[in-house]
Amino acid sequence: MSKKLKIVCIIQVRMGSSRLPNKALEDLSGMPSIERMIRRVKKSKNINKLYIATGNSHKNDILVKSINRIKGVKIYRGDDDNVLDRFYQIALKENANIIVRLTGDCPLIDPEIIDKVISSLIENKSDYASNILNRTYPDGLDVEAFTMRTLIETYQNVKDKYSKEHVTSYMHGLSSNTKHKGDFKKSSVENKINFSHLRWTLDEEKDLEFLKALFSNIDNNSSWMNIISYLLANPLLNMRNLDVPENEGGRLRYKKIDKFQKSNNFFKKASKTIPLGSQTFSKSHIQWPKGVAPLFFDRGHGAKVVDIDGNHYIDYILGLLPVSLGYCDLDVDNAVIKQVNRGAIFSMPSKLENILAEKLKDLIPSAEMVRYGKNGSDVTTAAIRLARAYTDRDLIAVAGYHGWHDWYIGTSTRSMGVPKSVKNLTKKFNFNDIESIKALFKKYPKKFAAVIIEPAGLIETDINFLKDLKALCKSEKTILIFDEIISGFRIDLGGAQKYYGVKPDLSCFGKGMANGYPLSALVGKRRIMKLMEEIFFSTTFGGENISLAASIATLNKMEKLKTIEKVNNFGSSLIVSLNKIINDNKLNKYLEVSKINWWPQLIIKSEKENEAIFSSILRQEFIQNGLIIGSTFNLCYSHCDKSSHLATLNKFQKSLENVKGYLNSKDLSQYLKGDIIQKTFKVR
Ligand SMILES: Cc1ncc(COP(=O)(O)O)c(C=O)c1O
Repeated sequence: MSKKLKIVCIIQVRMGSSRLPNKALEDLSGMPSIERMIRRVKKSKNINKLYIATGNSHKNDILVKSINRIKGVKIYRGDDDNVLDRFYQIALKENANIIVRLTGDCPLIDPEIIDKVISSLIENKSDYASNILNRTYPDGLDVEAFTMRTLIETYQNVKDKYSKEHVTSYMHGLSSNTKHKGDFKKSSVENKINFSHLRWTLDEEKDLEFLKALFSNIDNNSSWMNIISYLLANPLLNMRNLDVPENEGGRLRYKKIDKFQKSNNFFKKASKTIPLGSQTFSKSHIQWPKGVAPLFFDRGHGAKVVDIDGNHYIDYILGLLPVSLGYCDLDVDNAVIKQVNRGAIFSMPSKLENILAEKLKDLIPSAEMVRYGKNGSDVTTAAIRLARAYTDRDLIAVAGYHGWHDWYIGTSTRSMGVPKSVKNLTKKFNFNDIESIKALFKKYPKKFAAVIIEPAGLIETDINFLKDLKALCKSEKTILIFDEIISGFRIDLGGAQKYYGVKPDLSCFGKGMANGYPLSALVGKRRIMKLMEEIFFSTTFGGENISLAASIATLNKMEKLKTIEKVNNFGSSLIVSLNKIINDNKLNKYLEVSKINWWPQLIIKSEKENEAIFSSILRQEFIQNGLIIGSTFNLCYSHCDKSSHLATLNKFQKSLENVKGYLNSKDLSQYLKGDIIQKTFKVR
C-alpha cells in the first residue's frame, strides 16, 4: 500500500514526568515499559522508520542509554519544551511523507491500530487521522498520523508554548488551550464497541501495578482484542487503575464545551420512563444545579467516581453512605465473585446467614438475634411491627428519619398517599430533649409501642438523654429502638450503642454494612426477637447470598484494619483543614464544617432566602473542581489515602475562591449557571 510513501513513526518520551518520573524505564514484568512499546510498534506493517524523540537535558541520558541497546530504533534529541520542533526536524531529515505520533506512556500500543490510522489517512486523502477524535479505544492506544504538509503548516503557524509542547493540538483542534486551530481534513478511526473507559496508559503508581500484573499474564505480542478478552475473564485486574484521573496530556486537555452533554441528553431519555429519572429522591436532578452538574455516574473506584461524560470526582456522598470501604474494594468484590460462582440465592438458607449473624452478635452489644432486610426501611418497619406485636400497643414516637414506609413518612411533608389513620399513630418529639418525650408519654400513657431514634447523627448526642430515655421507656414498658442505619459501622464497629454505652431493646443497621451491596439487619434482645417467628416479615430476597458474603468480607476487613478508627481520625483532620480554608477565605460568616468526625456536616449559615441559591452555587463550584459534596461529608476508608486528602483540600480551596468572589455581589443568583436545588424535605 505505502511502498512509495515514507512513513516515519516518532515516539515522544521524557524522563521526569511529575507523577511517575522514570515511567519509561519502569520494569513491566521483566522488560522496561518503553522497550515493550518499541517492540509492539515494530510489528506495524506500514512504518518504515522508528524514532524516539526526547529532550536534550541530562535527565534523559539514562533513557537514551537504555534505548541505544534496542535494534531498529533511532534516537533524536532536541529542545526540551518544543516537542513540535523535534518532530519537524526528524521529518525533514528523513524526508518523510507521513508522520505517526505516539507518546511513550503507551506500553500496550497496538500495531494493527497504528496501521488502521495510517490507512485511514491515506485512503481518505486526509491531512490528519487518529483514534482520539471520538474516543472508542482504551486510553493508552492513542495513534495520530499526519502528512508532511500538515506538519509544515503547523510548524509555521504555531507560536504558543502549549501547542509546541503538545505537537498536534493545532491539527486536531480539540483542545480549549490552543489559541489557533488549523483547517485540515481529518479522519476519525473508531471501534464499533466503545472501550474508552479502560485505562491502559502508564502515568501513576496504580497504572504501574495494573500493567505489571497484566504483563505477567499476557504475551508481549498479544493484540489489544486479546487483552480485552483476558481482562473480561479477569475483571478485578481491570478495575485496579480505573480511579486514576486522566493525565494532562490525555483527555482532560480536550475540555468539552458542554462537560455534561451526555448526562443532560440521557436525562431527557430517562425521565420519559423513570419518574424524576432516578429511583431515589436524593440521587435525582432536584438535588443538583441541573445543567452544570452530572446526573448519571458510570463507575467508581476507591473514593472516586466518573460520570457518563468522563468527568472525574472525589465523592463525598458515596451512594448515600453504603460505601464504607471504597468503591470496588478488592477484598469485598473477591468475596462477591466467589459467591457469584456458588449461587446468588437458594430455596433454603445458606450458612452465610448464620455466619454473619454470629459476627453481628460479636460486634453489637444489644444483638442477641438477627433478621435481614435489603433497605434500611425494611428493618425499621420490621422493628415497629415487632414492637407493636410485643406490646400490643399502636403508637410510635419518632425523632429522626426512618425510611419511606407509611408509619414514618406520614409524619413528613412528603406524606402523600399515607392514610390519616396511619399518620395519627406516629407522634414526633425532639432529639436530645427528654421533656418532649415525657410530654408525649404523659398525654398518651402506656399507649406507645416504641420510641425510635437515631442515637447519633449530625448533632452531638447528649449521653444523659440516651440514658434517661432508656429508663423512661423501661418504666413505660415501651420498646426502645435505635435506628443505626447511618451511625452503624461508622461511629463505631458496635454502633452508637457501643460508643455511648447504652443498650436499646432493638436496633436497625443497613447502609455501611456490606460496602454498597444491599443488606440491612434488625438485631435485638432474644425475648423480643423470638416473636419474629410469628410475625410476617418474610421476603424473597431476605438471605440473598451475595450481599451476605459482601457483608462478612466488609466487616472482617473493617475489624482487621481498624478502618473506622482511621476514617474517624481522617474526619478530624479534614474538619480542621476545611475550617481553616473557610477562615482563610473569610467565609466563616457563611460556612462551617461541624465537629462530628465520623459524619462532618457542611453547615450553611447564610440567610434563609439565600440558602438554596448559596447551596446550589457551592455544589456548582465543587462539581466544577471535581468534588461531589452534598450537605455532609460521607467518609470511607479510601478517603484516608494521602493523595485523596490533599486533592480534596486543593479542590475545596479553589471552589471557595470562586464563591468568595461571588459573595461580594448584591445578586448572588447571577452566578448560578444551573437550576436551583430543591429540598426533598427537612428531617435533620
Ligand atoms: C437513619 C435512617 N433510617 C432509615 C433509613 C432508610 O433506609 P433506606 O433508604 O435504605 O430504606 C435511612 C436512609 O437514609 C436513614 O438515614
